[in-house]
Amino acid sequence: GQSLISVTQLTTPGLELLVQTAAEMRTLVKNHGGDDRLKHKILATIFYEASTRTSCSFQTAMLRLGGQVMHVDASAGGNTSSKKGETVSDTVKCLQCYTDVTVMRHPTQGTVVDTALDSIITKPVINAGDGVGEHPTQALLDLFTIIDEIGILQDDNVLNNEPSIEPLIVVLLGDLKHGRTVHSLAKLLARAQREFFKRPLVLRYCSPEVLKMPSYIQEYIDEVSTIAGSDITQEVYTNVYDAMKNSDVLYQTRVQKERFNSPVEYANVKGAYIIDTQLMEDAPRKMIVMHPLPRVDEIDTDVDKDPRAAYFRQMENGLYVRMAILALVLGKGVAN
Ligand code: CP
Repeated sequence: GQSLISVTQLTTPGLELLVQTAAEMRTLVKNHGGDDRLKHKILATIFYEASTRTSCSFQTAMLRLGGQVMHVDASAGGNTSSKKGETVSDTVKCLQCYTDVTVMRHPTQGTVVDTALDSIITKPVINAGDGVGEHPTQALLDLFTIIDEIGILQDDNVLNNEPSIEPLIVVLLGDLKHGRTVHSLAKLLARAQREFFKRPLVLRYCSPEVLKMPSYIQEYIDEVSTIAGSDITQEVYTNVYDAMKNSDVLYQTRVQKERFNSPVEYANVKGAYIIDTQLMEDAPRKMIVMHPLPRVDEIDTDVDKDPRAAYFRQMENGLYVRMAILALVLGKGVAN
């Protein structure tokens, strides 16, 4: 099996297989709770940084496919031998001696890729978030949610991605500087534009000036566009009402308090964009609201009742997509 470190590894056939498998996993869970295709396989999860969804959904995904889980809470080193100075690679090598696949989160960008590429690491490593870098499995569940919500994924699990001239308009809102989920999602949507979505893609970045999308992400997308001949427009906004006009998706993010150098800098931008019922009145009827979660106060809880609020459905999809990822990485995309 291959490690999953970045969305830049993904190809259109791989994406279609993953989406199809995730849809089948959803049907499997709803009808039977799961199966035992990963019996005798063990997943190691090691989190050097806090998590609710990613950690719990990966663990549940393994259990629902008949496998077992060994979870290591390594926040601030936890009770692991990193306290004694062991390197991350050596710690992961240890886990790999006992288990079959490793899911890993670390607060420092690049640590997961460095670990996965270390010559002593021989089994698949899945990136569950590396600092402000990437969160590829989140981007995959986000893509799954978008196609499910806008009807590209049909009720019978068939993909209807016929070419269209109607653009897909996605607004990425909030802390675009530190949000690894939007870094991965923007890159994944761009990679998927031509052969997967087969419709023009408009990416609207809406943030305070100090939290704007890093130029290296925008440059990557420009490069993908040029090389692949994609139809992608990148636009920059500060006003969310302007940004969400005619949009299909409003993807809200949390201002990442833990990534700021000082509390004052955080206080200056906290609460810059709040999605509330008043904003939803002005939003397009078709526009769904997504958020990787956790939220703090950037989506008012009154919005939860709005049928366009897709973030809890998105969170649930994390289970199905991670079941698909584990099954495919371990060579069991199809049940025994
Ligand atoms: N979306 C996400 O990664 O959530 P957690 O930090 O709770 O895993």
